[in-house]
Amino acid sequence: MNKIKDLKWGVTTAAYQTEGAYDKDEKGLSIWDTFTQKSHKIKDRSNARIATDFYHRFEEDIDLAVDIGLQIFRFSISWSRIFPEGVGVVNPKGIKFYDKVINYCLKVGIEPWVTTYHWDLPQKLQDKGGWTNRDVINWYSGYVTVLRDHFADRVKHWVLINEGIVCVGAGYFLGVHAPGKRGIRNFVSSTHHLLLAQAEGFKILKERTGLQVGTAISCTKIEPYRNTTADHKAAIRIDTLMNRLFIEPHLGLGYPDNDFPVLKRISKYYKKGDIEALKTDFDFWGIQTYAREVVKAAWYIPYLGAIQVKPKKRNVKTSVMGWETYPEGAQYFLERFAKYNPKKALWLSECGMALSKKEDDQIRIEYYQKIIEGMKTVLDKNINLKGILLWTLVDNFEWAEGYIPKFGIISLDRKTMQRQMKKSAFWLKKYLSNIKL
Ligand code: BGC
Repeated sequence: MNKIKDLKWGVTTAAYQTEGAYDKDEKGLSIWDTFTQKSHKIKDRSNARIATDFYHRFEEDIDLAVDIGLQIFRFSISWSRIFPEGVGVVNPKGIKFYDKVINYCLKVGIEPWVTTYHWDLPQKLQDKGGWTNRDVINWYSGYVTVLRDHFADRVKHWVLINEGIVCVGAGYFLGVHAPGKRGIRNFVSSTHHLLLAQAEGFKILKERTGLQVGTAISCTKIEPYRNTTADHKAAIRIDTLMNRLFIEPHLGLGYPDNDFPVLKRISKYYKKGDIEALKTDFDFWGIQTYAREVVKAAWYIPYLGAIQVKPKKRNVKTSVMGWETYPEGAQYFLERFAKYNPKKALWLSECGMALSKKEDDQIRIEYYQKIIEGMKTVLDKNINLKGILLWTLVDNFEWAEGYIPKFGIISLDRKTMQRQMKKSAFWLKKYLSNIKL
């Protein structure tokens, strides 16, 4: 089994949050390009038309990752760069861009990992219903086939869909992320289609030998507020929704709708063979975790019957995201995943904390030190943890929060586009060089 020094370290990034060049080289618009046009949806009324300008500065960013000693560079591909219309004609300039990123990684000795989908659906597909339209399974399959045919000769690790629950929960239920849709019907239909699409994507990639194909799951520790049956039941419902819905159907356990009966509504969208088709034996699971939430029963909240007791109300400090930062969650979820299957390879494929512009970066260092302590315990318990990917390299566009939260270990001056390593980047560089000795 792995020891802490055997873990691989890397970083995770995402196309929309970093690339910019939103309409360059025949790229089509994505749902985030259109969503951010309604500027009131974004806290600082910003958008990611330029973002960190990764499109033009990827070499510099990859060099920085290498300099810190990271071994993996995980980035996502923008679907609308490859297929400006979502389907149909492939854009050679889109392929060329990702060829350059992948080749550069290989040249400087960092392993490229691809996420096929990190929330930026082509707008043209959203015009046809997006994830609520069952045709998305075919659209996504066509897209993944093209990615496989162009990049699988050099990319060995693939993450299919990043955090399905956030994609459909924030985008199709709460409407706070693109495409800004709300409601239970949008939610249940897009959940089912996204999971089916992911299962198809897995099969398509696995037609090639030698690939490691997995998914990345958002995990949030949920606890009841009071020690009452009602609050415990509320916590079970929310935990089922946030931490099981996007896992158990792939494990062949079906939808966890006994513990959250609202999910029975998904069955309206079942076709024959669907539950079987969802079963997917991923090569690895990516666990991504940031925060803890405490919930209490609330009969007046539709569908959920639960409400979050905000950290402030519990006298708990929050990060600039308004979250209770919870590095302990990494250990908790790795242990929980290992119970599903003790042999399966696990990655901590995102962890990190946001600071405001004014906060001292020492706080981030302490956060990562706690993560490392947790991982030592996990390894002592013989859990098959392979490595840790940080969120994230350079401060970037944090979705509905705009540029206010700073998740990077490298800062960005948005006027000059200059990057500068923060204290945490220097700390990590030192840690990584010592640990390998
Ligand atoms: C997402 C990232 C996001 C980060 C912080 C993760 O859930 O994958 O895109 O920036 O959380 O909110």
